[in-house]
Amino acid sequence: MSTAKTALIIGASRGLGLGLVKTLLADGWQVIATVRNPQNAEALQALGAVRIEKLDMDDQQAVIALSQQLKNEVFDLLFVNAGVKGPDVQTPGGATLAEVGQLFFTNAVAPINLAQRFAGQIRPETGVLAFMSSVLGSVTMPDSPELALYKASKAALNSMTNSFVTQLGEQKLTVLSLHPGWVKTDMGGENADIDVDTSTRGLIDQVNAYTGKGGHHFVNYRGETIPW
Ligand SMILES: NC(=O)c1ccc[n+]([C@@H]2O[C@H](COP(=O)([O-])OP(=O)(O)OC[C@H]3O[C@@H](n4cnc5c(N)ncnc54)[C@H](OP(=O)(O)O)[C@@H]3O)[C@@H](O)[C@H]2O)c1
Repeated sequence: MSTAKTALIIGASRGLGLGLVKTLLADGWQVIATVRNPQNAEALQALGAVRIEKLDMDDQQAVIALSQQLKNEVFDLLFVNAGVKGPDVQTPGGATLAEVGQLFFTNAVAPINLAQRFAGQIRPETGVLAFMSSVLGSVTMPDSPELALYKASKAALNSMTNSFVTQLGEQKLTVLSLHPGWVKTDMGGENADIDVDTSTRGLIDQVNAYTGKGGHHFVNYRGETIPW
């Protein structure tokens, strides 16, 4: 009987999601990973033994369909990584209702909706539910005013996560709001501080370190606590 742990990674076509899959496979995990467009998943396929499912996290019917399809799985880790940067102009007067709605829905509402659907399938006691937050979501963070809407969307994700955690009832889960560092991806850009491998190694180290601890923690890829 296999003793490998199982992870479900949401948003794994590129960037940090792809890196998380790579790190977990190297650590011997079984991985199920989602992409919006399976035609565009060559890099993920090239990693080898990963089960790929299609999911646009914003699509409620697709979330329900995936939860049906995976209903017999038990996850040691559910990592909701998918996110967007939002509009180029992030001044309150410079962005449209549709752009702001999309940003907040994808970054703050859809991750919690998905977590609610899958929470019952996370392994009791030792399972970890991780959200890809950002230090920019800390309301104490004065940096990057040009990303004001993105920052607010990650603060909203943290707030939505807090509300979600209070509704878990008897279920003992460890919930992590994680900051990956400033990482060289399409979103982070080439001037970012660290590469994907460094970030995802650190993120999975935090998942392992917090396994079984319970509670809700806001930490970065190095394990340093971030003020809410
Ligand atoms: N890079 C950084 O420095 C940094 C720092 C702090 C936090 N983060 C967070 O880390 C996460 C990953 O960022 P990244 O840098 O890897 O960005 P990225 O390279 O732009 O990748 C974003 C990923 O999210 C997926 N995605 C976006 N909207 C989705 C949706 N509605 N449903 C399903 N998948 C969706 C994308 O899929 P497609 O390929 O289909 O578009 C892609 O796989 C995000 O939540 C981001 O906010 C990044």
